Amino acid sequence: MINITKITKTFNPGTVNENTAIRNLSLTVQEGDFITIVGSNGAGKTTLLNLISGSILPSSGTMYILGNDVTRTPEYKRAAYIGRIFQDPTLGTSGKLSLEHNMNICSRKGFKGLKISLDAKKRQLFREELIALEMGLENRLKDNVGLLSGGQRQALTLLMTVLSRPELLLLDEHTAALDPRNAEIVLSLTQRFVDEGNLTSMMVTHNMKHAIEYGNRLLMMDRGDIILDVSGDEKKNLTVEKLVKKFHEIKQTEYTSDEALLTT
Ligand SMILES: Nc1ncnc2c1ncn2[C@@H]1O[C@H](COP(=O)(O)OP(=O)(O)OP(=O)(O)O)[C@@H](O)[C@H]1O
Ligand SMILES: [Mg+2]
Repeated sequence: MINITKITKTFNPGTVNENTAIRNLSLTVQEGDFITIVGSNGAGKTTLLNLISGSILPSSGTMYILGNDVTRTPEYKRAAYIGRIFQDPTLGTSGKLSLEHNMNICSRKGFKGLKISLDAKKRQLFREELIALEMGLENRLKDNVGLLSGGQRQALTLLMTVLSRPELLLLDEHTAALDPRNAEIVLSLTQRFVDEGNLTSMMVTHNMKHAIEYGNRLLMMDRGDIILDVSGDEKKNLTVEKLVKKFHEIKQTEYTSDEALLTT
């Protein structure tokens, strides 16, 4: 699905602000992988997703997605098969438009063969999709999205992203701005959508418990590279404590205050 070889990203090269955010990183992602990514602030997690989505291009190295060399391919060309959700619940939908209007825009990609205009058949389809969220949103088709709570809005964004049928789903702390209950709801929806669509997904989180609980593979990033890559039974048997211990073994550091970064 994704083949990244020795990719490096240096911001502001040759200036006093030169900063290598990704350093000689290689990664192969299999179709159907649900990968969780942890790592402290500034480790390069968002930059890695930016490189995969094409919103920034690498300084060196190569990237293949679905067998094509996309190393220099701009973001808008990759958007056809990549869905992305950010931490801020207001980013994925338009607050000034109604739920049905928002869904209609995304449905042009996902529901091929349907009319562009909103009709009864489409409204019924949207209602059925919204019922699956179990948030009562099926009764609010005409409400502006700006009226929804953060959790409802992020669930809607997730639904709309999935309905546009991406091959790859990139989630960047997409539940971090939600209260614990809504975070759990959106996470279990994520799991369900990923399972139902056999979607290849990469999910950045600062919550170690979530990183362990979800997905089939866990990556830990540090200073622009992957320092730990766990899958299969090893991942199933992980605990937060084991993960923090591994981090310190790899970094050859003592248990210090920085585990706070990993356990938040
Ligand atoms: N556009 C940019 N220009 C300059 N430096 C950048 C840019 N984007 C990211 N960086 C730098 O790259 C490094 C990695 O940042 P990145 O946002 O990828 O970290 P992160 O792992 O996502 O952290 P967080 O957990 O805080 O979101 C940081 O030092 C950051 O300041
Ligand atoms: Mg980030």
